[in-house]
Amino acid sequence: MSSKTDSHHAFVKVVDDLIQRLHHEKEEGLQHVEVHPQTLKKLGEHPLKKKGIAMKKNTRSISQAEDAVKVQDALEKIAKRVSACKNCPLCETRNRTVPGQGNPSSDIMFIGEGPGADEDRQGLAFVGRAGKLLTKIIDAMGYTRDQVFIGNIVKCRPPGNRTPLPEEMKACMPYLKEQIALLKPKAIVCLGATAVKGLFDPKIGITKLRGQWMSFEGIDTMPTYHPAYLLRNPSKKADVWADMKTVLERLGRPVPEKNG
Ligand code: URA
Ligand code: SF4
Repeated sequence: MSSKTDSHHAFVKVVDDLIQRLHHEKEEGLQHVEVHPQTLKKLGEHPLKKKGIAMKKNTRSISQAEDAVKVQDALEKIAKRVSACKNCPLCETRNRTVPGQGNPSSDIMFIGEGPGADEDRQGLAFVGRAGKLLTKIIDAMGYTRDQVFIGNIVKCRPPGNRTPLPEEMKACMPYLKEQIALLKPKAIVCLGATAVKGLFDPKIGITKLRGQWMSFEGIDTMPTYHPAYLLRNPSKKADVWADMKTVLERLGRPVPEKNG
């Protein structure tokens, strides 16, 4: 027997044992099993179905994990298209594309303007100074960064960190729209003037709008100040915290006491 067949048999045996054990636990009253999306993906590659063993979607956590795998796969496909994109001149000066990253089952999405120098180097959204402040805001809300999704209006860094031009935002929007349609967050937090202009209207500003719910393709969207603006104007942090409390209330999540 080849070693490939050996390891295949060993794998089938492990899965069989696991299934028997789960049946037993189910009889004992077990109702939910958390399955990591990657594990489920691997199991899906295995010919369990051919063996007549139904991967029953009898627990909510399993079907949720399956959905998360599908969304993650689709997000990765978008990121791949972004990495090859030449739909606007920003492709000429970028080092890395920054498609946005986070949890495929997130109920909340944070949308900023576009990559800065650190993001352009790492290919990740909000990893520089403004990103550190965004992490603090996310933590204060009772999330961790890997529980949420963080993205931007444009996926390539504008040279010298200038504001993206209206044509660049327009060229890049289809990617963000696809990401939003996949993630279907319960709320979007729109960080700063550029994000509001990109999502809604190039003519509108942030000062008048912040703190008031808007609707982007049917999703509750809260405009607030950008973390980079907060670094320059720390006294505005209270406004952002008020806006984040409004968001948490709408999501039905507990509002933690803010300290610092
Ligand atoms: N500012 C943004 O708007 N987005 C980032 O990813 C980083 C800084
Ligand atoms: Fe393409 Fe967007 Fe990058 Fe422009 S900013 S090249 S539209 S990915």
